[in-house]
Amino acid sequence: MKALILSGGKGTRLRPLTYTTAKQLVPVANKPILGYVIDHIRDAGIKEVGVIISPETGEEVKRYIDAGKRWGIRVTFIPQSEPLGLAHAVIISRDFLKDDSFIMYLGDNLLSHGVSDSIKKFRKESPQALIFLKEVDNPKQFGVAKLDRKGNILHLVEKPKRPPSNLALVGVYIFSREIHAAISRIKPSFRGELEITDAIQELINMGHDVRSEILDGWWLDTGKKDDLLQANTVVLDEYIKRNVKGSVDCNSQITGRVTIERGASVRCSTIRGPVIIGKGTEIANSFIGPFTSIGDGVTVRNSVIEHSVVLNNAFLSGIERLEDSLVGKNTRVIRKDTHHKALRLMVGDDSTIEV
Ligand code: G1P
Repeated sequence: MKALILSGGKGTRLRPLTYTTAKQLVPVANKPILGYVIDHIRDAGIKEVGVIISPETGEEVKRYIDAGKRWGIRVTFIPQSEPLGLAHAVIISRDFLKDDSFIMYLGDNLLSHGVSDSIKKFRKESPQALIFLKEVDNPKQFGVAKLDRKGNILHLVEKPKRPPSNLALVGVYIFSREIHAAISRIKPSFRGELEITDAIQELINMGHDVRSEILDGWWLDTGKKDDLLQANTVVLDEYIKRNVKGSVDCNSQITGRVTIERGASVRCSTIRGPVIIGKGTEIANSFIGPFTSIGDGVTVRNSVIEHSVVLNNAFLSGIERLEDSLVGKNTRVIRKDTHHKALRLMVGDDSTIEV
């Protein structure tokens, strides 16, 4: 069994963050989403991993994966010159995949349980495809499956205007080599992409055994804007342990599951977990509330922050209360105590500011 990770695309739905970072490298609890994906693949015992990269962000993704040394896997990078669809990504990976079975994992999807059990199930039952479904509130944004009463798939449809159910296709699929023949029979969709959903439907049409499983753990598709804060909350809740390596002075209080990385310092502040604070970050005279991730090299002074994500090298000072917010890299958020109440902003494209 091989793995194919999709880490291309333009990430338009996560702008402005994705002007400077691949969407798969946006951190959740201070770790790129792609890192969790590779952990899951390594934990399932897969050693041969293909990674689809785009011209825009390929170099950055390569740098992060660094030939897979950290995970003990062998990585083949496969450039996709244009985002022509998930099934197109499989076509250009044929030399790498050969006739082997493979798990295809979208690099911006996060699953609670990893994929080891699913791979065992696939090996035991050997269908031509095993797909995963999860109930969602907004099925129009996904591939959607209609099942019969026994749970067999009746049909699949990509981004339906009138969804036949609220069961979305999760961005993790396990295929045998028959998927290649199915892909060769499909045409681009209304959005001009070769859809993997259409190829799986084609497998069904060809009379192959396609099985589905409804996920019982959580699934987060972080490629869609509002889910990033939610992903941060869920991952902090589940993974963060108490681990204080940085320095904390005697005027500070650290409560609950808080990770403070090496080289970080906390002075005259209260940190209430789950919270992660990155390397070399300085927190002074502040309150950091639950479900907050603060990246590396950040400065926070005289501020209150809760349920937020602050990325590397940001600077926040005098902010009375920041909630449900996402602060990008190298960003400065400062309160100036002048007499007239003016806002002075230098905000990048595609930003949202609520005052
Ligand atoms: C893709 C698939 C869709 C699936 C989704 C899961 O959508 O086409 O079927 O439900 O991933 O994340 P896209 O991210 O390309 O809109």
